[in-house]
Amino acid sequence: MSAASYQICTLPGDGIGPEIMEQAKRVLAALGQAFDVEFICEDALIGGAAIDATGSALPEETLERAKAADAVLLASVGGPKWDNPAPGAVRPEQGLLAIRKALELYINLRPVRIFAPLAQASTLKPEVLEGVDILIVRELTGGIYFGAHERETAVEGAGTGGTQGQRARDIMEYSEYEIERVVRWACDAAARRRGRLCSVDKANVLETSRLWREMATAIAADFEQVELSHMYVDNAAMQLVYNPAQFDVLVTENSFGDILSDEASMLTGSLGMLASASLGEGTALYEPSHGSAPDIAGQGIANPLAQILSVELMLRYSFGMDEAADALSDAIERVLADGWRTADIADAQTDSQHILGTAAITDKLLEALASN
Ligand code: IPM
Ligand code: MG
Repeated sequence: MSAASYQICTLPGDGIGPEIMEQAKRVLAALGQAFDVEFICEDALIGGAAIDATGSALPEETLERAKAADAVLLASVGGPKWDNPAPGAVRPEQGLLAIRKALELYINLRPVRIFAPLAQASTLKPEVLEGVDILIVRELTGGIYFGAHERETAVEGAGTGGTQGQRARDIMEYSEYEIERVVRWACDAAARRRGRLCSVDKANVLETSRLWREMATAIAADFEQVELSHMYVDNAAMQLVYNPAQFDVLVTENSFGDILSDEASMLTGSLGMLASASLGEGTALYEPSHGSAPDIAGQGIANPLAQILSVELMLRYSFGMDEAADALSDAIERVLADGWRTADIADAQTDSQHILGTAAITDKLLEALASN
């Protein structure tokens, strides 16, 4: 009997999802052995795979299993097969949004950390990356993602030249409590880190942002150790590539966080290196920040590290297994320091002899874990 046993609801999804999930399971199995913990992974359907099998992007059975599990590990959803569906048809992404909402996972953490051996892989100069360690806290269950999305046809004057045409709208709304709970979490996180919290908004234009800014100011006042600053989102996008080391914790609403986190992933060299944790009321969910990369699916060349780094976050946040998480993180450092790369983080000139596929780089990682 193992000392502990955890039930993980695994959602491989679409595109490269199943390939990278398989590697995450191998890592979990190895860590389970090393730390005398039993991880029971059970696959369930989400996204395009679920639409094909059941017609729904988030089948009821998947949600029930997720709720009953100790943690949810998701890979990625979406692909060209399900793009541009007929009006009213389901999209794979709806499964992802629905599970976040159903589990009330309103906090999305995207830690941006630079692996020293990959400093060359970034498009930014290595000196700009020095000292970069950012925690992006993205609000995940509100804002424009979850407001009404509507389209009208035959609207007088909506067409070019005053003719009839279509008109669409997406509503962005935030209630006080939605802002408060995520900003409070971010303040707490900042207090445990370097004490700096930057709240990102567009308060010069948007009413939701003006409410966000007032709330952030009021909440941060409760935290003596936290120094709060505010930044407009356009400026934040610029500062992230100009001087990313200035940021400690960055908190922002859903859509701004979506965009800024993709941008910030490039500091790490690849979107293939950015993990995420979604926390809130229900079972926590861990997933890479990248998509399903349909263009490379099935080729065995996808970078599994964001998925594996999501396992690291799961060990820390859901299971309190910091020692195992540190061992995993060290092993990843060593594999990269030894020069092993997947294609997305490789320098074509210098790394060409060291480019590995999805399973082979995981083999190196398992060797590094075993030699710990
Ligand atoms: C992400 C993704 C999702 C999002 C998509 C797939 C719906 O881009 O997790 O960042 O926009 O939240
Ligand atoms: Mg995104």
